[in-house]
Amino acid sequence: MRTAILASGRGSNLQALIEAINLGRLPIEIVAVGSDQLGTRALKRSEDAGIPTRVFPINRYPDRRAQEEDILNWMRENQVQLLLLAGYMRVLGPDFIAQVNFPILNIHPSLLPAFPGLHAQRQALEYGVKVSGCTVHLVDEGLDSGPIILQEAVPVLAGDTEESLAQRILEVEHRLYPEAVRLFVVGKVERFGRRLRILQQEGLE
Ligand code: GAR
Repeated sequence: MRTAILASGRGSNLQALIEAINLGRLPIEIVAVGSDQLGTRALKRSEDAGIPTRVFPINRYPDRRAQEEDILNWMRENQVQLLLLAGYMRVLGPDFIAQVNFPILNIHPSLLPAFPGLHAQRQALEYGVKVSGCTVHLVDEGLDSGPIILQEAVPVLAGDTEESLAQRILEVEHRLYPEAVRLFVVGKVERFGRRLRILQQEGLE
């Protein structure tokens, strides 16, 4: 499945996806990586893996629509069949979502619907929850509101800072995202309205 990835920063989830593909655990091909930021580690990681990159800096466009139009054209050029957001820190507009006729997946560092948007780990700490986690979901026109594929809980510890909690969640993300994408692309995710059911996990068949 021809896959594009959008990433704004460090790209550790992108790296986890690349490694899962290299280990034969994830049957997709990353054909292009895009970013809204110049000079990020995500771009460097892609180049190191031999994946073509493109940058879409928002300040080079008259408005968000124009930037998203460019991203849509880039995906068409690359005959993309699946889009994965991996730390892409911009909300995709409704026009963009409406024009994409293939699935878009995202990973978010909280147990949605709790703490959508930016700084999810800070929101969790400030709220005082004892458990947070991460969620892989389909992207719809809302903010982190699409149907959920997989979630996993991560404890919040008494001495946690935003960084320590983010790091604990990130370790789970690196396992959860490739697994959720795999289940999705091999057809093990069945949809009932906004509820997604995982069919026959290996070992249980
Ligand atoms: C990850 O924790 C990801 O879940 C989060 O940004 C981080 C990116 O790390 N995404 C969001 O908050 C999206 N709203 P990475 O660049 O090392 O993959």
